[in-house]
Amino acid sequence: MKGEPVPKSFAEELEMLKAQGLHRRMRRIAGSQGSRVVVDGKEALLLCSNNYLGLADNPRLAEASMRAVERYGTSSGASRLVSGTMELHHLLEERIARFKGTGAALVFNSGYAANSGIIPALVGKGDVVFSDRLNHASIVDGSLLSRATMVRYPHNDTAALRRLLERHQTAGRRLIVTDGVFSMDGDMAPLRELAALKREFGALLMVDDAHGTGVLGATGRGSAELQGVMAEIDIHMGTLGKALGSFGAYAAASEEVIDYLANKARSFIFSTSLPPAVLAASLAAVDLIDSPEGAALRERLSRNTAFFRDGLRAAGFDTMGSETQIVPLFVGGAEETMAFTARLLEAGIFAQGIRPPTVPAGTCRLRCTLMATHGEEDLARAMALMVKIGKGMGVI
Ligand SMILES: Cc1ncc(COP(=O)(O)O)c(C=O)c1O
Repeated sequence: MKGEPVPKSFAEELEMLKAQGLHRRMRRIAGSQGSRVVVDGKEALLLCSNNYLGLADNPRLAEASMRAVERYGTSSGASRLVSGTMELHHLLEERIARFKGTGAALVFNSGYAANSGIIPALVGKGDVVFSDRLNHASIVDGSLLSRATMVRYPHNDTAALRRLLERHQTAGRRLIVTDGVFSMDGDMAPLRELAALKREFGALLMVDDAHGTGVLGATGRGSAELQGVMAEIDIHMGTLGKALGSFGAYAAASEEVIDYLANKARSFIFSTSLPPAVLAASLAAVDLIDSPEGAALRERLSRNTAFFRDGLRAAGFDTMGSETQIVPLFVGGAEETMAFTARLLEAGIFAQGIRPPTVPAGTCRLRCTLMATHGEEDLARAMALMVKIGKGMGVI
């Protein structure tokens, strides 16, 4: 209509992203997601994958997948509630429940699908979600979809959360939800304090341990195991596509909550379920993680992390409070961050720059992630280059 603003074209919006240094493009990786890859035709050390234990090309997982395809075919054919529940779904869910020490478990098609299904199933209008300000986008989106009141508390600030819990009384449910390990910062949620608050205020506590599962705790059960609060978490959510080298996600909780989710979570109900090859790889991965071999991989990952993080911190980098295998190197602006990434890639190091909207403006960083399969010599070379480029750019 006359006088009304004309919407920008897609081309104009893309140009704006480019002008702000926020345009993204996908790089092509040849071969598997090992610790060394070929990126856009050039060999590089991979320092930005969530394949923390190197299981994404583990022969045991691959063999399990191939055997599953031969026996069960390539697809589940339908939603679980129609005709898509297969033997492997049950076996994987029993294994995950045993691993997490819960009454039951339910697998979802991805971590994103899990969070955007679980949260709106648990809470709705009249309820309140208390969500850490740095929680993953899928938690934010699940909370928005739920139509519950979303209250975002300052990152890991349990005193502020307490005040908000006091202020937001409701006759409905209250859900505290947090990442176990924060995906862009590599620090951990204070789960003991959160568990105490949930008890005091009669709330539910949900932990998204996408980056802790398989990696943290003496037996790889995640950040809740490390902090000694496994039994205090009402809903353990975790992913199967990161340390577990497969794909998909799970909720582990009481039998009642899992039955409820299977009846209410729309991303579970209205979607074709995970295929046999993926389920079998996940099953093999949980077995491996829960074995001495898994413990040895965690040990190597932890050694690599300490070597890398301590070395770069000593050289002057701000690693932003990282306590895990996710080690951010603070840069600041989007353009400088992407220039840093580009210079590293030219020298054979692939470490991804992270910009808004993934992180707040002015806090752009290189998000480096360690793998159990990185060699110390390779890491030392990467660190020396980072220090050289960081000094040249005035980052350190
Ligand atoms: C904390 C967290 N939750 C959920 C997800 C989504 O998991 P998925 O990649 O399986 O969709 C991610 C992925 O990066 C994540 O970091």
